[in-house]
Amino acid sequence: MRIEKQRYTERFGSIKINDVQKVLELDSGRWADLPLKEEIAVVKIEEDVIKHFEEKMAIVIPIKNEKLKLFEGVISGVPHECLIIVISNSERKEADRFNMERDTLEQFCHFTQRQALIIHQKDPVIAQALAQAGYTDLLNKGGKVVRDGKSEGMVIGLLVAMLAQKEYVGFVDADNYFPGAVWEYVKCYATGFSISQSPYTMVRILWRYKPKVSGEIYFRKWGRVSETTNKCLNSLISAKTGFETDIIKTANAGEHAASVKLAKILPYASGYAVEPQELISLCEDFGGVLPTTNQKVAKYGIEIFQIESRNPHFHEERGTVHLQEMLLQGLGTVYHSSLCDEETKQMIVKELLAQRALKRGEEPAKPHINRPPSKININSFSNLMAEHLDSYSALKK
Ligand code: GDD
Ligand code: MG
Repeated sequence: MRIEKQRYTERFGSIKINDVQKVLELDSGRWADLPLKEEIAVVKIEEDVIKHFEEKMAIVIPIKNEKLKLFEGVISGVPHECLIIVISNSERKEADRFNMERDTLEQFCHFTQRQALIIHQKDPVIAQALAQAGYTDLLNKGGKVVRDGKSEGMVIGLLVAMLAQKEYVGFVDADNYFPGAVWEYVKCYATGFSISQSPYTMVRILWRYKPKVSGEIYFRKWGRVSETTNKCLNSLISAKTGFETDIIKTANAGEHAASVKLAKILPYASGYAVEPQELISLCEDFGGVLPTTNQKVAKYGIEIFQIESRNPHFHEERGTVHLQEMLLQGLGTVYHSSLCDEETKQMIVKELLAQRALKRGEEPAKPHINRPPSKININSFSNLMAEHLDSYSALKK
């Protein structure tokens, strides 16, 4: 793969936020011995290097009642060396959707001879293992069942990736229409990890286009939710540095990945607030404004890449109410950050009112935040889960 070099980077305390890097070539040819003429502006990542990172990566797919055909396409797009971890919150009523997902995955693993794990979010073993590890954050009020939410699915996926001793974890939604796009996202993750200078690193995908179909296809670039969340997050940073910035272009990036070292020290907001909260938490913990609790990590620094994929992003459309909810949750995390200034708060309320996601006089709710997985007793979680791992495996012996 060939991508643009990091040409512009903003520093916020110990965090390096790289501006968008475009993918130039999906396949960059054979390994070359000679120095590359384009080296000043372009990075070429060799196939072998990409494979090296894929081997160390788990791809977590959160899924809830998606069309089976989409799921089937998504798994076929995940590069072979990656471990697939599916965390499902699909219905288990008369039509047991989870069973269908498991069947599909098992058939895929049988014919491709690859390893994958599939777990239901409401599996009592998970709840028990979490309770045993002291991680009740993910459980509902009764403490017996895991809460609903994509974010909760992601965190379970991360814990399972840790159990499988992976060094990197990437997230891919199950409602992606194009397997080729999924394939590219994972290549971008590997690419970002390979050029990172820090072991604490994150890659967030920016889509070149997110087309809308209304009669004919329109290759739209920005959705309203991402545009607004980016604007408010940038406003929060600008107010702190005194220099207006537009560096954040991936506040809502569902498709993103991180080194496990970084992923396990991040808190995770519930539901769809999760992606903006990751950036907010990094700014709070390592932005240099508030005291840093983790000096070791601050010393290494944190590196964030925003990589623009070539494939357009096509996924299921869920309607205005869903988008309003997503906007409200995402902006709630910015609004309630201890870094958020009065002007940014006003901007958030104004945007939410304009997009009818909030009523006059209301303020966005404070998100539920799950503590960083590093705070829990991971051995205790792993011990119980390890006993059941065979039953979660999709490749039968
Ligand atoms: N395990 C699990 N549990 N998965 C879930 C749950 C849940 O409770 N709810 C949703 N999912 C799965 C969906 O099946 C899908 O694969 C993925 O999580 C994303 O959910 P969508 O409902 O499709 O979200 P979206 O497409 O509107 O938004 C996506 O893109 C945004 C950026 O544009 C999400 O990834 C957002 O988090 C992201 O901000
Ligand atoms: Mg979606």
